[in-house]
Amino acid sequence: MVTKEDVIRVLKDLKDPEIGASIVNLAMVRAVEVQGSTVSVEMALTIPNCPLRDAIKNDVIRAVSGMRGVAKVEVQLSSMTDQERGRVSQTLKDRSTAEQSNVRQTWRSQATGIERLPKGEIGQIIAISSGKGGVGKSLVTALLAVELRRHGFSVGILDADLTGASIAKIFGVKDHPIHTPTGMAPPTSRGGIKLVSMNLLMDRDDAALVWRGPMINSAIRQLYSELEWGELDFLLVDLPPGTSDAPLTVFQSIPVDAVLIVSSPQDLAVTIVAKAINMAKLMNVPIIGLIENMSHIICPDCGRKIELFGSCKGQEASRAANIEFLGSIPVNPVISRLCDEGKIEDYKSPEFGLITQRLIEKTSQLKVPQTLTSTEKSIEKESGR
Ligand SMILES: Nc1ncnc2c1ncn2[C@@H]1O[C@H](COP(=O)(O)OP(=O)(O)OP(=O)(O)O)[C@@H](O)[C@H]1O
Ligand SMILES: [Mg+2]
Repeated sequence: MVTKEDVIRVLKDLKDPEIGASIVNLAMVRAVEVQGSTVSVEMALTIPNCPLRDAIKNDVIRAVSGMRGVAKVEVQLSSMTDQERGRVSQTLKDRSTAEQSNVRQTWRSQATGIERLPKGEIGQIIAISSGKGGVGKSLVTALLAVELRRHGFSVGILDADLTGASIAKIFGVKDHPIHTPTGMAPPTSRGGIKLVSMNLLMDRDDAALVWRGPMINSAIRQLYSELEWGELDFLLVDLPPGTSDAPLTVFQSIPVDAVLIVSSPQDLAVTIVAKAINMAKLMNVPIIGLIENMSHIICPDCGRKIELFGSCKGQEASRAANIEFLGSIPVNPVISRLCDEGKIEDYKSPEFGLITQRLIEKTSQLKVPQTLTSTEKSIEKESGR
């Protein structure tokens, strides 16, 4: 007859798919009971609603039901307490030190359970977030990349909005990732911005993606870690809208240095912005500032600024949350035309130049190692310093 110890021995060989450590060593197996040929396993997941819960459960069922003398396997899932999570965090830290792994094992506050990927040759990673969709996140990501490039930085954009990918379209890029002798590299825009959107990996531009959590998770991880981004001063990550599973996955997987929040004035801006702010705080990522999009229009005849929705709510929301207001972008038909034509790199505005300048200043205050811009590096190389 199968014993509890036999079951634990089998479970010991099973690894958490994300953390890569034994589920027994991670104390995810809370209890095992054997009654005749029925085995019951009680499991504690590292986070509530873990996107890989089904995969973990199926692994356990498959492994235990393969044991001789087992006819039925019951798996009960719950999630770890903060204390238990703290212990796992410590185990991982110890393991990381012991292995001298170059993988950063940053275990973020309570809501994480997925190993974060290393930063490689990327200087700063900034995620662009909003509490809801359609506020102009992708546009702000694109404009920021263009301005940073004009400042001489090397820039990449990872469009993490897998199901609503729009970055490639805004830049008019249709190329698939490029084969290199060592793997695949992201295609480059006319202005030299490396970018990837999910639709560049599909055969058809309008194909609908219906994906479940674990698939989104692994796709985001692959776009980040399996593409050869090379040396970048900035990687901008266009997050999926809202505060659901998908943006959370980005924070758990990618070593984001800061979050930029985008809001629009038409709605309950303060409440919606608060959601995005709370998510960044929960993930323990600093907020670099807020940009309000579509806050006003400039009269084409007299040049007067018209605030369609009253005074700037983004400023109000920033003050309430104690974050920096970086500036506002007007509704401008030129912007939407350039987005539609894939020519956003032709857009130039002194106001957005100033917003970018403020953002660059803020990034220099972030507590991450500062690197020279790629232009500065090549100047150094050329002058033989
Ligand atoms: N300031 C603006 N002036 C004119 N058009 C704009 C402006 N901001 C955004 N748009 C247009 O609005 C549309 C939506 O913007 P965008 O795709 O950037 O929003 P989003 O927040 O990324 O949306 P989603 O949540 O769906 O990803 C785009 O087609 C863009 O052309
Ligand atoms: Mg978008």
